[in-house]
Amino acid sequence: MYKILEKDEICPKICRFRIEAPKLVAKAQAGQFVILRQHERGERVPMSIGGLDKENGVLTVVIQEVGKTSGAMNAMKAGDSFLDVVGPLGIPSHVEKFGRCICIGGGVGIPPIYPIAQALKDAGNQVETIIGARTKDLLIYREELTAASHKLHIATDDGSFGTHGFVTTVLEKLMNDGTPIDFVMAVGPVPMMKAIAATTREKKIKTWVSLNPIMVDGTGMCGACRVTVGGKTKFACVDGPDFDAHKVDFDEMTSRLKMYHKQEKVAYDRFLHESKNCAFQAESKS
Ligand code: NAD
Ligand code: FES
Repeated sequence: MYKILEKDEICPKICRFRIEAPKLVAKAQAGQFVILRQHERGERVPMSIGGLDKENGVLTVVIQEVGKTSGAMNAMKAGDSFLDVVGPLGIPSHVEKFGRCICIGGGVGIPPIYPIAQALKDAGNQVETIIGARTKDLLIYREELTAASHKLHIATDDGSFGTHGFVTTVLEKLMNDGTPIDFVMAVGPVPMMKAIAATTREKKIKTWVSLNPIMVDGTGMCGACRVTVGGKTKFACVDGPDFDAHKVDFDEMTSRLKMYHKQEKVAYDRFLHESKNCAFQAESKS
């Protein structure tokens, strides 16, 4: 059992969990992921690592309610426990002294960029981070990324904070500011990662992305996380999750991610209906 030490809702429907997992945290490195299971009949859910407190053996994950399982997980409280936290899984992000690095996080892809930015900074790089969200209230991890970067740039789609536009609006400005960029690392929605790859391709800026396809076992056996990179089949759970952005077939990944949308919607609607009934019954009893 893996005890939740702290839980806070950092934005509507987005919760940060600090989980006691000393053995996992001792081994884990930036860019890896874990698989959570709430209870014996629960779904296995891959989650990026959103922080590693090595001193206290505490793992941070950030969960956005997008369906039945993430909704049930976000209803857990401090003191509750996850049945399993499997990991660390995947290959750690490649970290070396590149020079000027731009780390980019979009939406709930912001937390996983934090340990990566920190690792790149610790390796002696000049790290600038760009975070983007639809609106000001969805900007998360600002304090953490201010500390982990030499400079933090912010973009919102609606212009409510920072640059009005996408993370690529800021990236384009940085690419034209006269100082060469040596490495770009991005985590976020697939359209964002695809747009970043298109932005840096012509100037041949080394660009890597962390992919989040559907996963089941997380150990290379089921094939669910199949992606095409440079024309070859790769399994994101064991060959990644980080890949060269200029070689990823993002269109194939987008269509594979949509495969179970219908079933996911049915399960989520039922979960919302049942949660509403439970709340109504509890209210009637009190
Ligand atoms: P979102 O749709 O709100 O987008 C967040 C930001 O990404 C936007 O504000 C914008 O700056 C940028 N963006 C989006 N579309 C873009 C485009 N076409 N061009 C350029 N920039 C674009 O994000 P969300 O709803 O929070 O979703 C985050 C996604 O991140 C989810 O799909 C989740 O699965 C994914 N994620 C990925 C990983 C990973 O390891 N790759 C980890 C966590 C989350
Ligand atoms: Fe099963 Fe990667 S999740 S092979």
